Amino acid sequence: MERSFVMLKPGVVNRRIVGEIISRLEKKGLQLIGLKMMCVSQEIAASHYREHVDKPFYPELVGYITSGPVIAMAWQGDDCVAFIRKITGATRPQDAQPGTIRGDYCMHTNHNVIHASDSPESGEREVALYFREEELCVWTDALECWL
Ligand code: PPS
Repeated sequence: MERSFVMLKPGVVNRRIVGEIISRLEKKGLQLIGLKMMCVSQEIAASHYREHVDKPFYPELVGYITSGPVIAMAWQGDDCVAFIRKITGATRPQDAQPGTIRGDYCMHTNHNVIHASDSPESGEREVALYFREEELCVWTDALECWL
């Protein structure tokens, strides 16, 4: 079963729209297996965004997710990564379609409200970066045959 890591960034907590955004992922039928509110350390942020370390926006990217509490989540489901990326929308809010999270909730890339893993490999790596195995709760999905 594929896994994806999703982070709701500090602006989402400040704007009191955490529930609204989680609800979009739940309604799709994806299975939430890990959830916590946390402050991201510089070390975790650096590991998370290690492939962007040379990009000009790197300090801003790390600065934003370490500026306040985030909601870290692990999701599971068939083709989970691709589904979540579709629901999340394009990286640049200017390119994100209305109806997607970034299309509906943000104006600027540097405050683009949500991170979602871009591949199954990143999903595994990022879930393991933010969650210990015992923090994950892999539950039996009674709705599986209806989704
Ligand atoms: S992605 O989602 O990985 O395919 O997108 P990518 O374009 O590779 O961007 C990787 C992360 O860098 C963030 N980003 C920026 N932040 C601030 N300013 C600018 N200009 C900018 N461009 C890209 C982008 O939001 C991705 O971070 P996450 O946390 O996934 O949103």
